Amino acid sequence: MRLGVLVSGRGSNLEAILDAGLEVVLVISNRAGVPALDIATRRGVPAKVIRRADHADAGARDRGIGTALAEAGVELAVLAGYDQVLQPSYFAAFGGRTINVHPSLLPAHGGRGMYGLAVHRSVLAAGDPVTGVTVHEVTADLDGGPILAQSRVPVASDDHAESLAGRVLAEEHRLLVATIRSLS
Ligand code: GRF
Repeated sequence: MRLGVLVSGRGSNLEAILDAGLEVVLVISNRAGVPALDIATRRGVPAKVIRRADHADAGARDRGIGTALAEAGVELAVLAGYDQVLQPSYFAAFGGRTINVHPSLLPAHGGRGMYGLAVHRSVLAAGDPVTGVTVHEVTADLDGGPILAQSRVPVASDDHAESLAGRVLAEEHRLLVATIRSLS
């Protein structure tokens, strides 16, 4: 299955997908100069930077992202550490399936602002004994699309946001790859 991967930063989920031997035909970043783009270059995967600043508004940018995926023949788009909400114009331009990996057990600790370490801080502040990973279908409703897979990660009594993030990230890599395989 031809994958398109949307990234914004570090790119460890992108790397896990590539390490698993899955077929990535296009990487799109909304930010220039991020490590995820270096990973794409190193692995010989075509990459595009599609920035808000080069478009009239976020809707125009997202139409551009959807069009680029469609033109590359992408069948499944994967948001792997992509930090923007996709506008309706994206879904109009790209008719394929889009999935996202989120570092909590949605619907807990999802929604606006729940990104990166903020998610794990929220889990710790709530005193949750267990957190985890969710892979879900992306719709216009932020973090609200149908859940495809979840996996649990216990919270340790001495965890801080960074330690929890590290264990959850390892589980993200595993579950994201397994879910993509299950959709192929
Ligand atoms: C991951 O925790 C992902 O779930 C979240 O942002 C992080 C990105 O990590 N949306 P990476 O760029 O894949 O290393």
